[in-house]
Amino acid sequence: MSSRANSPGLDIAALCVALSMAGCGAGDHAPSAAFEAARSRASTPEREWRAYLGDAESSQSSPLDQIHRGNVDRLEVAWTYDSRDAEVDGASQIQFNPLVVKGVLYGASPSLRFFALDASTGEELWSFRPDVDIELWTAVRGAVYWEDGDDERIVFGAGPRLHAVDARTGRPIASFGDDGALDLREGLGRDFSDDMMGVVATTPGVVFDDLLIVGGRVGEGEGAAPGHVRAYDIRTGEMRWIFHTIPQPGEFGYDTWPEDAWTRSGGANGWAGFAVDSERGLVFVPTGSATPDFNGSNRAGDNLFANTLLALDARTGERRWHYQVVRHDIWDRDLPAPPNLVEIERNGAIVPAVAQVTKTGHTFVFHRVTGEPLFPIREVPVVGKTIPGETVAPTQPVPTLPPPFTVQEFTRASVTDRTPEARSEIERRLETLHIEGLYRPASLEGTVELPGIDGGAEWGGAAWDAETGLLYVNANQVPWILQMVEMPDEEGLLTGLGTGYLFACTGCHGLDMKGDGVTVPSLLGVSERMGFFDVYRIIRDGRGRMSGSGGLMNWWQRAAVAWFVYSTEEADTPANWARNARGPKKFAQAGYQKLADADKLPGSKPPWGTLSAIDLARGEIRWQVPLGDYPQILEAGLGGLGAENYGGPVVTAGGLVFIAATPDSRLRGFDKSTGELRFEAELPTAAFATPAVYEASGRQFVAIAAGGGKLEATPGSLYVAFALP
Ligand code: HEC
Repeated sequence: MSSRANSPGLDIAALCVALSMAGCGAGDHAPSAAFEAARSRASTPEREWRAYLGDAESSQSSPLDQIHRGNVDRLEVAWTYDSRDAEVDGASQIQFNPLVVKGVLYGASPSLRFFALDASTGEELWSFRPDVDIELWTAVRGAVYWEDGDDERIVFGAGPRLHAVDARTGRPIASFGDDGALDLREGLGRDFSDDMMGVVATTPGVVFDDLLIVGGRVGEGEGAAPGHVRAYDIRTGEMRWIFHTIPQPGEFGYDTWPEDAWTRSGGANGWAGFAVDSERGLVFVPTGSATPDFNGSNRAGDNLFANTLLALDARTGERRWHYQVVRHDIWDRDLPAPPNLVEIERNGAIVPAVAQVTKTGHTFVFHRVTGEPLFPIREVPVVGKTIPGETVAPTQPVPTLPPPFTVQEFTRASVTDRTPEARSEIERRLETLHIEGLYRPASLEGTVELPGIDGGAEWGGAAWDAETGLLYVNANQVPWILQMVEMPDEEGLLTGLGTGYLFACTGCHGLDMKGDGVTVPSLLGVSERMGFFDVYRIIRDGRGRMSGSGGLMNWWQRAAVAWFVYSTEEADTPANWARNARGPKKFAQAGYQKLADADKLPGSKPPWGTLSAIDLARGEIRWQVPLGDYPQILEAGLGGLGAENYGGPVVTAGGLVFIAATPDSRLRGFDKSTGELRFEAELPTAAFATPAVYEASGRQFVAIAAGGGKLEATPGSLYVAFALP
């Protein structure tokens, strides 16, 4: 199944819209009877899931208690919905946290078809396919609901655009933006109109009154867009304010960059989601690193407001306070999750606070109004040498409490002891790699980063339970390798054929393409050993201990890498790029590589993924358990080692923490007080997403998108809802 025409996206409603056919379908402006029926089974707002991660505060918690510790083992599948487009043109993954509003569940498919389902039954009510280039079928994490009387809207991101549709019919709202959509590449003060990737809407924004406040994903390299935060009038799509995360002349923080950075630097984007304190009119925005991620030589200085928790006036976008968590980031240590608005007791008084989890495994807690840290912060040194031209910040801040929820560095004692072979293989790799230290920069030889590029905490975020005062956060504990390569600074080369090789292959086959001479073969002269399509197939399907690129690359990306490997001779390998270059040179990152053993398992000691409950008032970790397992571990008859995981937890009044996120395709329910596992169900494929917990027809549901397509999990296109029988 690879044809888009076969996908259910081209439905009659969409055709009606596309062709503007009069009288198309019965009552084309009125919601369907099925829609009205779903609405009749609605619950009250707090018992549904009316915003991304539950509410504007991103609390990831639900007041429902029909499902509780005593009966959760009886949960069963109530309905499933298949959007039937897993792997259509390489689309894969669903990171979507569904919205549930007035009995209707809103979701998105892997190829970005948006739909409304009856939240009680899973029956499809309408669907809408925005016009978006298939190269931009990047996973979208959620949507926004807004209403004013009869005007009810769902705002979805798809590629660079935000689309507003009628929540009842899925029809575009023509008065929003340009005929129903606005383009995030516009209004940044620099021209990104031709840059397809310029800004991509992944995590949805938040609503404050009639403002839609958004960030976005931008590139990670040179020429990336600046990550300015913007507020739009949710009725018209008109921009109402902009906060420059890369400050302009005269603005606070301008002096933390080179003078002209505001005209050329990118990143510092709020991509992970925001939290709104509606009562105080504050929006809390965590930002990512400045670009290029691993080479800061062109952006000397601390680089405010990158890697910063910003507290902005939600009405005007004015800065109230900020705290920079990583200065001059050269580790890709974005603030990866929306902050949690919490209340903690201090000396008998309740303090309104905001908690931010990080990729380094820390929880920063600030007073919500003053920005004052509620636990002392100390400085840790940045250690080790850098690429030439880099200027590091000498130290980085970490809170003294709560303790970190991940390990803090990779040392000789961290090497896996799973098998003697795995151990000696990793020890052999360490002969050339730099290790130790939480903040050790990327190097030409390679530096081990632990927690890695993907955390620590990730975009799944943390769940806050006001009842227990505990913050629940899942984390990765997997080592990555940061390696740089010197290459010609030619326009276009980085986007040329070699890019795919750099990112996906150098970790094993090396910059010199010679493999390691032990377990990984040389790719030099591969054209004498096999045909082009053999190379293509090996890249697609993998071979032996080499993984296939399944959902990670589209066919044309695979073809580009295959051609690079097939046609490159020794003199032109990445290792020789700089030597052969005549003009100026630069340093670029050689791939997103993990330090893994021959069984594709992390080169560190387990647990490789955890779930922690943090007592914020006392500043201590109440409990921590390994989260999930790699399928290889389960097949070997082992378990309880934890696995890399993506997607977040939801805590309920029923005393449970629900989370999927792991490559073993399970949805789990943990006792929120003790961490004891109370429920486990197998899903059709891994669900790298956050559940929605809601009530409809008087029943409590736990719904999750299972899209696989990452960590070698089979791609899928299912939404699965659990309930008691
Ligand atoms: C996790 C390590 C790893 C990564 C990443 C990796 N490979 Fe491999 N590759 C291997 C191993 C190991 C083999 C030998 C497989 C076997 O047992 O047959 C191999 C074999 C190959 C072969 C066959 C070589 C021959 O002469 O038989 C090709 C071609 C190849 N890889 C290309 C690539 C390309 C292109 C990429 C990037 C898209 C890549 N590999 C990424 C480990 C890796």
